[in-house]
Amino acid sequence: MTTTTAAQSLWLKALPADGYPPLQADETFDVAVIGGGITGMTTALLLKQAGLRVAVLEAGRVGSGVSGNNTAKVTALQSTVYSTITRKHGEYAARDYAAASLAGVTKVGELGADIDCDLRRRPAYTYALAPGEAESVEQEARAAAKAGLPITSDPMDVPFPVYATIKLAEQIVFHPTKYVLGLAAKVAGDGCQIYEHSRVMQVEEGQQCRVRTGGGTVTADRVVVATHYPILDRGLFFARLEPTRAYCVAAKLRSGSPPESLAINPGTPTRSLSSSGDLLIVAGESHPAGQAGVGPERYEELANFAREYWDVEEITHRWSAQDPTAYDNLPMIGTYTPRSGRVFVATAFMKWGLSTSTFAAMILADLIAGRENPWAERFSPHRMTLSGTPTLAKLNAKVAVDLVGDRLTPADANDVAEIPEGQARVVRDGLGKKGVYRDPDGHLHGVSLRCTHLGCLVRFNAAEISWDCPCHGSRFDVDGNVLEGPATKPLPEREV
Ligand SMILES: Cc1cc2nc3c(=O)[nH]c(=O)nc-3n(C[C@H](O)[C@H](O)[C@H](O)COP(=O)(O)OP(=O)(O)OC[C@H]3O[C@@H](n4cnc5c(N)ncnc54)[C@H](O)[C@@H]3O)c2cc1C
Ligand code: FES
Repeated sequence: MTTTTAAQSLWLKALPADGYPPLQADETFDVAVIGGGITGMTTALLLKQAGLRVAVLEAGRVGSGVSGNNTAKVTALQSTVYSTITRKHGEYAARDYAAASLAGVTKVGELGADIDCDLRRRPAYTYALAPGEAESVEQEARAAAKAGLPITSDPMDVPFPVYATIKLAEQIVFHPTKYVLGLAAKVAGDGCQIYEHSRVMQVEEGQQCRVRTGGGTVTADRVVVATHYPILDRGLFFARLEPTRAYCVAAKLRSGSPPESLAINPGTPTRSLSSSGDLLIVAGESHPAGQAGVGPERYEELANFAREYWDVEEITHRWSAQDPTAYDNLPMIGTYTPRSGRVFVATAFMKWGLSTSTFAAMILADLIAGRENPWAERFSPHRMTLSGTPTLAKLNAKVAVDLVGDRLTPADANDVAEIPEGQARVVRDGLGKKGVYRDPDGHLHGVSLRCTHLGCLVRFNAAEISWDCPCHGSRFDVDGNVLEGPATKPLPEREV
């Protein structure tokens, strides 16, 4: 396989052919969890263990979202997160994040112990790939130690020069899709249900909440929105979150083995390292979601890095995904709006959601059960963070430009006949424009360019063959079907 083959994560082949049934009637549960990724499934399991009847509603397949498209590192050492949190929120916040992240790693170890998910203990590293990165690694070492992480600066087992390291021993690498499927198997049964292919279109909050899908409605006392990017427009999450997309390749080695280290450097280019069995995983090349002009060369850069330092026989898989970061660099976990008592959310995991989702689930389970939680206030979505205000203004300015500015963008083809196979163009359509893709068989696929979330104009992503929205990261396939929210409705088709 070369880096030009279709993108699919190494983990998704674990999805069984037969899954859970769709919701096809109206049902009543104690809690409805929307989203069957690691966040939704861990929350559902902890709520079930607390004696509640839970329904999980998943738009596609369980474990096939970002939870099935990552680098599988479950660690409390996360690049330079402690320097960032200390700078923006102070040392106590960094301590809370460290304690919660360590608890998340411990919980994954406990829950994963009897799941067949290739769970292994590995050292995690933040490392300097260039001399210029050494200072920020050393600064992070000080911040992480102050935050309470038992770090050392031992050498890493990689075949290239490294200019500084931080090591945190006994972290975890696993098969994320098998892990989420294992959680799902524990959730299903005894009054709890999982529904796949059941996209939630609407949630009404009240004494009894109503969660509506095309096939039926779930009535529940409490609702957890675990859709990765929150799907409900209330709460202004769309003004406070910025999704970034990143790329991964898996390489089979002709000789030698991948490093044990789970590693990431803080600079650009980022080269994040992980492994699965005898496959080396390299990730990086991130950019704001929906950025124009993105193509498959991102994968090639990662493959070239692998080939430069390892004896690569073959690039076996490539995949990409995105994850939102909050304007103030803390996760958002708690009630959906300051006035919600019944609808909850967990998001903004900054590409570290395998541990963060797990402590998020612990917080949500405590909030729903009415128990105290030591981190609930710190990560509340309604915290006031003055240090993040300029970022917030910048994010909103970006959205305004994408809403208004893109409508002035000229069409890039006058006629669909100009579109080569495997490519897409923006084509004039009466007074407006449409997006047209010509597939490798020559068939044309036309869609409206207006994102069904809040109306920004989508752009073609040539790396993934999808229409991506630059405002909040919704993604659509070439026929307009939703690949990723917050949008819940497809792009209308356009005649071609
Ligand atoms: C390239 C990359 C590498 C990463 N590597 C790591 C790593 O090594 N370690 C780490 O800790 N984190 C990593 N992350 C981050 C981590 O994978 C995510 O933060 C985490 O998986 C998020 O889990 P989730 O359950 O919130 O989201 P998801 O897994 O995306 O689950 C959300 C689910 O909700 C469903 N959904 C969406 N809308 C609806 C709707 N309307 N109705 C019903 N269902 C809906 C989706 O189909 C999806 O299955 C990485 C992220 C990226 C982008
Ligand atoms: S994702 Fe919000 S407008 Fe497109």
